[in-house]
Amino acid sequence: MNFFLETIQVVLLSIWFNVESFIHLFVPRRRKNISGEVVLITGAGSGIGRLMAQEFAALGTVLVLWDINKDGVKETARLAQSNGAIKVHHYLCDCSDKNEVYRVADQVKREVGDVSILVNNAGIVTGKKFIDAPDSLIEKTMEVNTMAHFWTYKAFLPAMIANNHGHLVSIASSAGLIGVNGLADYCASKFAAVGFAESVGLELLATGKDGVKTTIVCPYFINTGMFDGCQTKWPTVLPILDPHYVVKQILYAVLTDQVFLLLPRSMYLIAGLKNILQWKVSSLLGVYLGLAGDIECDT
Ligand SMILES: NC(=O)c1ccc[n+]([C@@H]2O[C@H](COP(=O)([O-])OP(=O)(O)OC[C@H]3O[C@@H](n4cnc5c(N)ncnc54)[C@H](O)[C@@H]3O)[C@@H](O)[C@H]2O)c1
Repeated sequence: MNFFLETIQVVLLSIWFNVESFIHLFVPRRRKNISGEVVLITGAGSGIGRLMAQEFAALGTVLVLWDINKDGVKETARLAQSNGAIKVHHYLCDCSDKNEVYRVADQVKREVGDVSILVNNAGIVTGKKFIDAPDSLIEKTMEVNTMAHFWTYKAFLPAMIANNHGHLVSIASSAGLIGVNGLADYCASKFAAVGFAESVGLELLATGKDGVKTTIVCPYFINTGMFDGCQTKWPTVLPILDPHYVVKQILYAVLTDQVFLLLPRSMYLIAGLKNILQWKVSSLLGVYLGLAGDIECDT
């Protein structure tokens, strides 16, 4: 295709995609049916992992739950079963250990079958200034928040590609889009998770595997305990999020094949401004919004 025709095509499609988005402000998007799908959630022993398990269960899925917290994941399995899951399988799996991820993944394939929705949710935070953070905790943060995503994709993506069917869900963070004072290693791990999920999504599209979808979730602080004691400077613009609200939004994004989900909505504007404003202005804005000054946390 020549330059002129390709440019016209891009302009027309861009207009159409914007019109489509506008229409969907009034007309709800079609939700896909995921009953019978096998959904694997890492870090399912508490927080939004547990709530996602309950929501996916209510949609008639088969659940595979992983965590390092034995009692936590067992309790989630009980809750998911009573919420309507077809079947719930729970496993102890330390996602920071590549060999353990591969070993438990093989066990899942033998005992349950192919996973069609993979939710990389397990996450940890050091909560220390970079210089004060022990090397071991920095490494662990990268292993759980980023490297584990590599190994779970390696384990479960081939079957999705072969079937041209599946969904990869990455629970990242707004700290994967914007640097935050005091969260350097966490931000690094979440930037990496976002870049990884976005790139693999593009790789799949380029190879024609458009049946394998990607959803990248970037929430601000959620009231789950992970960032206990953290306060927001402007609660109206950047509220501490309710976990139930976050999980409802994640499920909606998955069911409608939404690629990026930023929460709260103000994050779309803040992340956009960060990329177009000059550094002095965006860092001023960061301090104003409470992202670049000292964040107030007890972690
Ligand atoms: N809470 C927030 O403010 C917030 C904001 C943005 C993004 N997130 C992300 O959301 C995800 C869920 O966090 P949450 O708020 O529900 O926290 P949470 O601490 O309640 O849940 C994290 C879960 O991961 C599990 N886990 C930790 N290390 C593990 C490992 N090595 N292997 C397997 N499981 C492991 C924990 O046992 C726990 O059940 C995380 O990835 C987190 O980074 C949280």
